[in-house]
Amino acid sequence: MTENDELLLLRALLRASDYGVLLSDASRRDQLCNRRFCEMFGLESVDILQAQPEYVRLHLAARLKDPEGFLQTLNFVYADPERVLEDEVELMAPKRRLLRRYTTPVTDQQGDIIGRLWTFLDITRTRSTEEKVRAQAAQLKEQARQLAAALKVVTGRLDKVENTLTQTQQQLFETEKLSAVGLLAASVAHDIRNILTPLTIELTLADQNDPAARAESLHAMRRQVDSLSLLTHRLLALAKPDTLERVPTDVCALVSRIIKLVQAQAALENVEIVCVAPSPLPPVPADPVQLDQVLVNLVLNAVQAMRATDGGTLTLTLDTHNAGLRIRVADTGLGILPHIRKRLFDPFFTTRPDGAGLGLFSCRRIVQAHGGTIQVRTRPGGGSQFTTWLPFLATPIDSGEPILSPEKYYL
Ligand SMILES: Nc1ncnc2c1ncn2[C@@H]1O[C@H](COP(=O)(O)OP(=O)(O)O)[C@@H](O)[C@H]1O
Ligand SMILES: [Mg+2]
Repeated sequence: MTENDELLLLRALLRASDYGVLLSDASRRDQLCNRRFCEMFGLESVDILQAQPEYVRLHLAARLKDPEGFLQTLNFVYADPERVLEDEVELMAPKRRLLRRYTTPVTDQQGDIIGRLWTFLDITRTRSTEEKVRAQAAQLKEQARQLAAALKVVTGRLDKVENTLTQTQQQLFETEKLSAVGLLAASVAHDIRNILTPLTIELTLADQNDPAARAESLHAMRRQVDSLSLLTHRLLALAKPDTLERVPTDVCALVSRIIKLVQAQAALENVEIVCVAPSPLPPVPADPVQLDQVLVNLVLNAVQAMRATDGGTLTLTLDTHNAGLRIRVADTGLGILPHIRKRLFDPFFTTRPDGAGLGLFSCRRIVQAHGGTIQVRTRPGGGSQFTTWLPFLATPIDSGEPILSPEKYYL
């Protein structure tokens, strides 16, 4: 490429460039500028290149927002020929524009400084886009801040509502508990009177000399004492199953004792008791006293459920299932309606006028403490079956909170 070719290329480059370019020589005289430079500042190249340096500088300064600053920067730059500088200047005329200015010394092939190059790039649009983005970001940040503040207020309110709800719930629970205690006391008093009245009569009759009549009285008295014993079981079931005294328990023997105990009452209610158990069954690690309470509760519930049908059959089935012992207590009563079934195990839930609603609740607590399960299957009109399953391997003890402690009950 000849020198002339190079010159032509250089000129073409300068003409096409988006940068405004100005080149001054070592004596600060402006020697060359491109078309973009002239457009930016609204000048003709002849004005620039033929004028005195002072004239051009003043002319440029007059178009800027900060003319004084501009002239100061020029002096600062020209005071040190090697200085390189990059900054921004704001143009007011012919158009309001923001320019990025860059200046650097120009050297010849030997490295001697022979002049200075100034370039200007119009960054108005980039800056305004940047500003818009920045403004949007700030707006978003502000919105997020406001949302966070609103959320905090709502959370605070929710906390308050939750506190009030918890308090109300606690109060309700206490009230319910107290009224349940009252109800229970009334029910027990009623039961005791029902037992004591015939017992007193029988005692008077036992005084007579006729041995046959005396034997019959004694038999009747025995039935009343059995009833008292059942009542004790019911009361015990309300106490906390605090410590489980687990021993290998023969559930078959336990069931036989319970059947004997409820036999009299079942006969009165026209209920036939059937027990199905393959013998022998392995013992279960269980607390016999508490397991006894569970079974008595289930059996009594079944007997009571058959009042509406004027009696029926109570079937107790024992077998092994899933590495545990399964005890099924089935009745031929009217079954349980779905809305009642959902609440069966809730404390204080009862549909009986003299019920306390703690039987099934304590049954479940005791069974769970043994690591077992209790489930119900029922069909409206087709009876109910409560299935208790207890594992053969003892699991860790889970002792629940007492609902009514015995001391509270006797107050
Ligand atoms: N075998 C059953 N058949 C029908 N309903 C039953 C049976 N067992 C329990 N229930 C229902 O569950 C309720 C709660 O039983 P329970 O917890 O033993 O309390 P309570 O016997 O004091 O009512 C009973 O009132 C009754 O409505
Ligand atoms: Mg009950």
